[in-house]
Amino acid sequence: MVKHSQAWLAMRKKRWPLTLVALLSLSTVTVLFIRTTSDSCNTRAKPQVRTQAQHLDESHSPIRSSSSPSQQQQQQQPNPLEFMKSKLVLMVSHELSLSGGPLLLMELAFLLRAVGSDVVWISNQKPPQPDQIIYSLENKMLDRGVQVLPARGEKAVDTALKADLVILNTAVAGKWLDAVLKEKVSEVLPKVLWWIHEMRGHYFKVEYVKHLPFVAGAMIDSHTTAEYWKNRTRERLGIKMPETYVVHLGNSKELMEVAEDSVAKRVLREHVRQSLGVRNDDLLFAIINSVSRGKGQDLFLRSFHESLLLIQEKKLQVPSLHAVVVGSDMNAQTKFEMELRKFVMEKKIQDRVHFVNKTLAVAPYLASIDVLVQNSQARGECFGRITIEAMAFRLPVLGTAAGGTMEIVINRTTGLLHPVGKEGVTPLANNIVNLATHVERRFTMGKKGYERVKERFLEPHMAQRIALVLKEVLRKGSRKQLN
Ligand SMILES: *[C@@H]1O[C@H](CO)[C@@H](O)[C@H](O)[C@H]1NC(C)=O
Ligand SMILES: *[C@@H]1O[C@H](CO)[C@@H](O)[C@H](O)[C@H]1NC(C)=O
Ligand SMILES: *[C@@H]1O[C@H](CO)[C@@H](O)[C@H](O)[C@H]1NC(C)=O
Repeated sequence: MVKHSQAWLAMRKKRWPLTLVALLSLSTVTVLFIRTTSDSCNTRAKPQVRTQAQHLDESHSPIRSSSSPSQQQQQQQPNPLEFMKSKLVLMVSHELSLSGGPLLLMELAFLLRAVGSDVVWISNQKPPQPDQIIYSLENKMLDRGVQVLPARGEKAVDTALKADLVILNTAVAGKWLDAVLKEKVSEVLPKVLWWIHEMRGHYFKVEYVKHLPFVAGAMIDSHTTAEYWKNRTRERLGIKMPETYVVHLGNSKELMEVAEDSVAKRVLREHVRQSLGVRNDDLLFAIINSVSRGKGQDLFLRSFHESLLLIQEKKLQVPSLHAVVVGSDMNAQTKFEMELRKFVMEKKIQDRVHFVNKTLAVAPYLASIDVLVQNSQARGECFGRITIEAMAFRLPVLGTAAGGTMEIVINRTTGLLHPVGKEGVTPLANNIVNLATHVERRFTMGKKGYERVKERFLEPHMAQRIALVLKEVLRKGSRKQLN
């Protein structure tokens, strides 16, 4: 707690971006909730049936921070990553930022630190001027015993040569190989695991991925994306993918703690609803993605408007429907954002549509909405972490039938799928009306989604899947070196 508040004060002095302050202060609130509830847990008679998370909570020491690795878990069951103890792992990230790719790699760094691996981190690209986000993320890593090295230089090359395993994060990180390792590249490739989280056209560039066929393995977040990479590398670049492993992601322990804390959820819900000016019984359909055409906010708003007309036309008795668009960034997508605002004005639905600036703190929104809309267009999401995060909060998902969403959402069980593109506008409108008019269906789907998350989309599941891949890659790397 003390640490959090000090960081918060320090950041206020430095006039940090509002979003980050909000994030930290929210995580402080979260820590508070977790403390109070687990404290009371220790003195209260325990219910007969407990979730795994509650079970693990019992051995909490009072000073444990909410972000510390899950030590309790290690005591109770063997950690699947245990074999990584004292292995030297070099992680090369294209950049260090608050975006999905780098944060995931950081999570893996912490999982490996928790089992005693030596982890060294390199960010290939850094802005020339000091950057406070990078500074704070690097400090977070140093606190957890991750070494941070400059991207270029002897130390980087040495570490790459000595490492048991090198993990490259994102296609673009491939630029680091030749630029830094030069003639030593071929020595390092047999122990490289390449983690890929993207599937847009501009990533299929020879300058990024020409070494891909020669690395020990590629790890990709969904089957669809893996198929797409196989196809595109062959057809476009004439190169062959290495052994490819599909590893679905998992929800962090921190997120699950909020999702499973009904007190925290209620407070967050009241707070957010109040700030948006919506009532407790209004129905909130939210899309939570950086605002851009690829994420389909425009088509979602068209569906939303159509659903309002349907409800009016059929004289359906439902609570007021609201649309929340979380992920606004006027500076980045000015033209597209103006288009969205114009549509809302033209259709006179300003009182029903709420825009929220981009934020990393999605838990408060997940706690306050009724349905998540995942409307990513074209090939859809590579995986779509927000989808499993929403399901952890027992929310049904209305998603496009594309990409990773198809591997997460079970149509008619945990949500409803609609086609991408303009063809999807009316089906999504119908699905919105469907869930608005069937409370029971909404709850059942939310519950089924939560069960699915508990079964396969948690951090321990992800760790298990990653462990299998790392074992394979280590085995191959050492064999190649003996030859
Ligand atoms: C692979 O590429 C071929 C030809 O470009 C295309 O017909 C096929 O649908 C693609 N498959 C996938 C899974 O993308
Ligand atoms: C949202 O971002 C815009 C600029 O991108 C800024 O002007 C506005 O104050 C922000 N709103 C909130 C509530 O932070
Ligand atoms: C999902 O279910 C709906 C309703 O039964 C159906 O119309 C639609 O084709 C299904 N979509 C997919 C991708 O399975």
